[in-house]
Amino acid sequence: MNIVLGVGGGIAAYKAAEVARALMEEGAAVRTVMTASAREFVTPLTFAALTGHKVITSLFGDGSPGEVLSSSVEHIRVARENDALLVAPATADLLAKFAHGLADDFLTTMYLAFTGPVILAPAMNTEMWRHPAVQANVETLRRRGNHIIEPDSGSLACGETGAGRLPDPRHIAAETLRVASPVRDLEGEVVLVTAGPTQEAIDPVRFISNRSSGKMGYAIAEAAAVRGARVMLVSGPVSLAPPPGVDLVRVETASQMRKAVLDRLETATIVIKAAAVADYTVENPPSQKMKKTAARMSVDLSPTPDILAEVGRVKGGRLLIGFAAETQNPVAEARRKMETKNCDMVVANLVGQEGTGFGSNENEVTLVPREGSPVVLPRASKREIANGILDHLSWLRLSRNAAR
Ligand code: PMT
Repeated sequence: MNIVLGVGGGIAAYKAAEVARALMEEGAAVRTVMTASAREFVTPLTFAALTGHKVITSLFGDGSPGEVLSSSVEHIRVARENDALLVAPATADLLAKFAHGLADDFLTTMYLAFTGPVILAPAMNTEMWRHPAVQANVETLRRRGNHIIEPDSGSLACGETGAGRLPDPRHIAAETLRVASPVRDLEGEVVLVTAGPTQEAIDPVRFISNRSSGKMGYAIAEAAAVRGARVMLVSGPVSLAPPPGVDLVRVETASQMRKAVLDRLETATIVIKAAAVADYTVENPPSQKMKKTAARMSVDLSPTPDILAEVGRVKGGRLLIGFAAETQNPVAEARRKMETKNCDMVVANLVGQEGTGFGSNENEVTLVPREGSPVVLPRASKREIANGILDHLSWLRLSRNAAR
């Protein structure tokens, strides 16, 4: 596996050396390309010594130690010779140049010529990371099929604390190798995933919803697509970019989600229900805004259809994976849902605690399969958790196929 590692000019550039080492420990050959500002943080010699390859530092050569240029179309040659491009750290400047097609140095020029998988690991100050311009560039890049490794939260070099820290180099290396050489173990499967909240209107202005961001379901959809499945994603209202290579259907209410799921059930071979579907709704909400006149306002709520249970009744040979969002006894609750809703596995996660569950970039789950004992997937990025769930799904598929 040949990886080209682009190093951007951020304080985390020094960690790129650890990423290179981790990739090589997994047997990858690493070629390094550094931007001019990256060289302000770490020398090319570091990477040349680590990788055993000279480092590319400019489009036209500047005579820096360790650089090599054999021809003026070196960026094309490097782009063709490597299986994947990893940029770590991907600075705000690089994200903007990638998103807008600027090509003023070797790395940005090669990026435009690169046809293989691209993995970007952004790292920057929290406020920069949260800036709408940066977030818009990230969404553009994600929508174009680049795999974004979400920054970690924690203490930053600038002394502040928050999102924007380059994740552990080993995690970056593992994600890169997985994306670069995906195990296409879901080839031939049609996976129907639900994600996000639903919104139940109280009147034209107000609605009832919940704290689901959609990240867990979107991570599952993206990971399943990378692993070769055809993916249909039914999503409640979220602010996430559609995962690359996924058929996205946007819905608002529980009733619309139910219809979207049932309409697609025929073609699905696996159903994974990560959405936080409202349990109650307002039947026939008024067409006019309810005026704030009385001292109190009451709303009459009716139960929504239990989509998971309904799918469970008609699933046939399909694999059905439910979720259980609990604040206590997650495994017992998952077992109960498994039986009452005829699931093949339930993914139990504790919600209401800091850093996992609703809205977080990370999660910790317990897989409760119909056969066998529960399996804990310890706290990790929702992308890693998604792959852990799909890994277990492969085992379920084998037993399903054997039973046919
Ligand atoms: O979206 P994120 O911010 O990333 O957060 C992820 C998550 C916490 C939402 C996710 O990991 C999760 O737990 N999703 C399920 C949330 C939920 O509704 O759990 P529940 O225990 O209330 O429902 C159990 C199962 O029944 C779920 O599979 C749900 O999709 C399904 N359900 C629930 C109600 C309903 N009317 N129809 C359903 O199909």
